[in-house]
Amino acid sequence: MLQKNQIEKGNLQWKCPSNIALVKYWGKQGKQLPSNASLSFSLTAAHTITSIDYEKKDKTAGISVDFLFEGKKNEAFARRIFNYIQSIKDRIPVLNGMHLRISSRNSFPHSSGIASSASAFGALALALKDIDTILTGKEVYDENFYREASELARLGSGSASRSVYPGFTVWGKHEAIAYSSDQYAVQLNQDYIHRDFVSQKDSILIVSRSEKDVKSTAGHALMQGHTFAQTRFRQAQKNLGELVHALKNGDRGKFIDITENEAMSLHAMMMTSNPSYILLKPESLIIMEKIRSFRKQYAVPVCFTIDAGPNIHVVYPEDFESRVKDFIQSELLVYCDAKQWIDDGMGKGPEKLK
Ligand code: PMV
Repeated sequence: MLQKNQIEKGNLQWKCPSNIALVKYWGKQGKQLPSNASLSFSLTAAHTITSIDYEKKDKTAGISVDFLFEGKKNEAFARRIFNYIQSIKDRIPVLNGMHLRISSRNSFPHSSGIASSASAFGALALALKDIDTILTGKEVYDENFYREASELARLGSGSASRSVYPGFTVWGKHEAIAYSSDQYAVQLNQDYIHRDFVSQKDSILIVSRSEKDVKSTAGHALMQGHTFAQTRFRQAQKNLGELVHALKNGDRGKFIDITENEAMSLHAMMMTSNPSYILLKPESLIIMEKIRSFRKQYAVPVCFTIDAGPNIHVVYPEDFESRVKDFIQSELLVYCDAKQWIDDGMGKGPEKLK
């Protein structure tokens, strides 16, 4: 615990990975609560590093924030961050009267369909929770720390709740996982993951780097009153139950069926919403078809998933890395924007750098 008159200032830095959802969160209710449970695995190359210099100014004053994104001022992001911190400040009373200098950097292009908000809010939530931990003298990075960081992250961006852990993560109440919750994500117990799935690769093919026409927030909102909404939420719950089972039993066929079915269902929701919109590009479809025929022809357990954007995540076990990378390089990169891709895969989870 801090002594009276001790200066409450310091700095810290957290790195948090993005994650790729295999069962998608699409549609929310109440205060950023999911309409269905989702399941993802955390990545490594795609991440955000967030540093915070904090200093207590005046306990009676509010919180002030300076925000730099990739070393530059960014008004739109700064506003979102400020509003977010205001919205969670009651959960972290030590933030009252603080000046926060926040600086954030992504390892990948933002708004390109790679879940930049997941790693960004993951890193920010971890850093804010860490300030709380330090200033209240707890400094224990246990299960509670990460659970609370997950809950804080969720309030910034739903998918961010899943980024604060390594491995497979579930956010949203589901009967197959007794300890799951709508409030925060939980890590799937490693004992329940078959060895064939402990090391997944995700090669992210950048079909387009341009900003998305319809942001996720608008997409979630379009699920309200969507003709297929209730069916979709039931489908996701069922898919998640079956995927958990497949992960435990090493059922690669089922893993592939569910992963691709989820990607298709997510984009079907967008195409059939009112108004309708399409985020996939012709190149996305070509890549998807090529992956399916490659899998069929060579019996390689590779599949695709897609987030809210045109980019294709090629998911496969590490054992098949060189085979799949040869295929990507020789047949798929030609459909990418400037042949760009991110060589990613399951990582070790978030890390405190300073
Ligand atoms: O966390 P948000 O609001 O950016 O929504 C993310 C939604 C998807 O990435 C499409 C799916 C998911 O579960 O990550």
